[in-house]
Amino acid sequence: MYFPVYRGRRMRRTEQLRSLVRETALSVNDLILPLFVRFGENVRQPISSMPGHFQLSMDCMVEEARKAHQLGINGVLLFGIPENKDPLGSEAYSHEGVIQQAVRQLKDTLPELVVITDVCLCEYTSHGHCGVISGQDVDNDATLELLCRMAVSHAEAGADIVAPSDMMDGRIGAIRASLDENGFPSVAIMSYAAKFASAFYGPFREAADSAPQFGDRKTYQMDPANSREALREVWLDVEEGADIVMVKPALPYLDVIREVRDSFDLPLAAYSVSGEFAMVKAAAEKGWIDGERIMMEILLAIKRAGADIIITYNAVDAARLLMQK
Ligand code: PBG
Repeated sequence: MYFPVYRGRRMRRTEQLRSLVRETALSVNDLILPLFVRFGENVRQPISSMPGHFQLSMDCMVEEARKAHQLGINGVLLFGIPENKDPLGSEAYSHEGVIQQAVRQLKDTLPELVVITDVCLCEYTSHGHCGVISGQDVDNDATLELLCRMAVSHAEAGADIVAPSDMMDGRIGAIRASLDENGFPSVAIMSYAAKFASAFYGPFREAADSAPQFGDRKTYQMDPANSREALREVWLDVEEGADIVMVKPALPYLDVIREVRDSFDLPLAAYSVSGEFAMVKAAAEKGWIDGERIMMEILLAIKRAGADIIITYNAVDAARLLMQK
């Protein structure tokens, strides 16, 4: 059956033949758009390392979400920039917090758009860590209670899915129990199950003003060297009640995405993070690469690796291109 009987080029001869045997298809239904929301009116504060992205006041955020929705994007993932920060991140779980207000406005205007909220304290704490500080480290179990309050307050505001990104142990089970006890059994959890301590989050920390003021996140986020541990983290979150599991970042962790896909049958999300976006934008601006083609190739690769859902800052641009096809 080898050459010359088998000729791989036979099925690559025309676009029609190629599309007949194409194994992976990217769809606008796969995409989720992250948005950064802040207080104020008519504010579009550019994020310098993420061209085309802004810290948006709620009115502008709703407009961006509307545009995305019109292009066929099913969901947005909201990150909040609070008015004030304190050691316990209290705006994160306040009824009048930025996310709680934003979700209410979004649900009033676009009720069918899937609203996902980031559940993590780092944007809200004065020290920039993802939980309660005790000594020089984050106290896992003391943080759980705050994360639960945050998730419940997002559910009260109308979030469809809460997405804990903090990497504390046991938070999926704790949040599931709190949601259920507070009357939100239908609110889903998208767990950042395998989230690595990555330098690829750099631009995001400018966007969300969430860089840790001392140390780093290596005592809670995963070591980039570990993929067996990633499976263990995913397994725990599945056991604790996650509805969707996530691998983050995406492009440098395609092997992890594939392993998770092969080992679990839950919907799998991949988060193509700020640094992945910024690298491509910067190289394209220099004229070194074809930014659009590379963007689509990366999204396809993430899908091929096994992701069902891709969270990407390119969601709107990719949706436009998919529509033209
Ligand atoms: C909050 C959070 C981060 C990201 C998503 N949620 C930053 C971090 O963990 O430092 C990163 C997203 C991105 O880089 O696009 N914990």
